[in-house]
Amino acid sequence: MKMMNVVNGPQNVSVIIQGCMRMPALTVDEAAEVIRNAAELGINFFDHATVYGHGDAETRFGDAFPKSGVKREDVFIQSKCGINNERGEFDWTYENILDAVDGSLQRLKMDYMDVLLLHRPDLIFEPEEVAAAFDKLEESGKVRWFGVSNLPPMQIELLKKYVKQPLVFNQLQLSLEQSQLIDQTFYLNNLTTERSIDRDNGTLDYCRLHDITIQAWSPLQKGFFQGCFVDDPEFPELNAVLGKLAEKYGVAKTAIAIAWILRHPAKMQVLAGAMNPAHLRDFCDAVKVELTHHEWYELYIASGKFLP
Ligand SMILES: NC(=O)c1ccc[n+]([C@@H]2O[C@H](COP(=O)([O-])OP(=O)(O)OC[C@H]3O[C@@H](n4cnc5c(N)ncnc54)[C@H](OP(=O)(O)O)[C@@H]3O)[C@@H](O)[C@H]2O)c1
Repeated sequence: MKMMNVVNGPQNVSVIIQGCMRMPALTVDEAAEVIRNAAELGINFFDHATVYGHGDAETRFGDAFPKSGVKREDVFIQSKCGINNERGEFDWTYENILDAVDGSLQRLKMDYMDVLLLHRPDLIFEPEEVAAAFDKLEESGKVRWFGVSNLPPMQIELLKKYVKQPLVFNQLQLSLEQSQLIDQTFYLNNLTTERSIDRDNGTLDYCRLHDITIQAWSPLQKGFFQGCFVDDPEFPELNAVLGKLAEKYGVAKTAIAIAWILRHPAKMQVLAGAMNPAHLRDFCDAVKVELTHHEWYELYIASGKFLP
């Protein structure tokens, strides 16, 4: 595994994170196996959210963790709050943030989480309330580091005006197939393609400029959770290049798709959603591959883009 130090954040974390969104489908023993397998592959970072399985992902993890043989102090546990599916709204109020963390810790059967992210923007959030909640969580020792997810630059600026803790992560969607985070710069001002539309106000470069580590979610999915693009006949060109490079580097195609994200100079972490141990092993092989400059572009173009 390749490790990294997060600026203003946790040190010696694995560049690959085990995402736990798909854990509710597993039994406790299967979940313990996923945790053990991830740890054996060198992953020391696990991602949750209050909404995954309406809390079932955290519950399953909490029940499975003691059976996994992994020590609490050897791993980083991250969760996300701020989405309330029952009420059909996003909620960053003081009470909701504090209640959400207490609920997560109860389900995880842990007395602290390493990282808390605000999951998706509450359009009517009061930054003073978020600041007060973060202070309380930090003082009580329930959360060590803070960050955001799916948040554009100006909202981060607004938060930063009030929140005193550094915002160390922004979790964002990025894959070869869903590369909007990157596309807009490439096609700047180009009227012939919708890819030139700036959909997030330069979030990628903003994060780099402000030392916010990006965590790339759904790195293998097409669309919005519409299935894995690797080996999908809908993407023949991309799979041909993935296959060629997989052969060159002696890894699975999955590893090449992930190596494409890790090759980006923003030095991101990547979230793996796989629950199948063999899939996760292939995914982690990405750290053995250092794509050339040319290969990075070859993959990008093969995923349906063109040189403007
Ligand atoms: N912040 C946000 O808004 C947000 C949104 C979505 C997700 N996330 C986080 O990101 C994590 C990853 O998202 P994701 O689950 O969509 O990621 P992903 O790694 O892109 O997709 C994983 C899914 O692809 C399947 N898959 C099929 N073929 C595969 C192959 N050859 N190799 C690997 N996987 C294959 C996996 O199946 P198996 O399970 O059978 O391996 C699993 O169902 C989540 O767990 C969550 O923590 C965050």
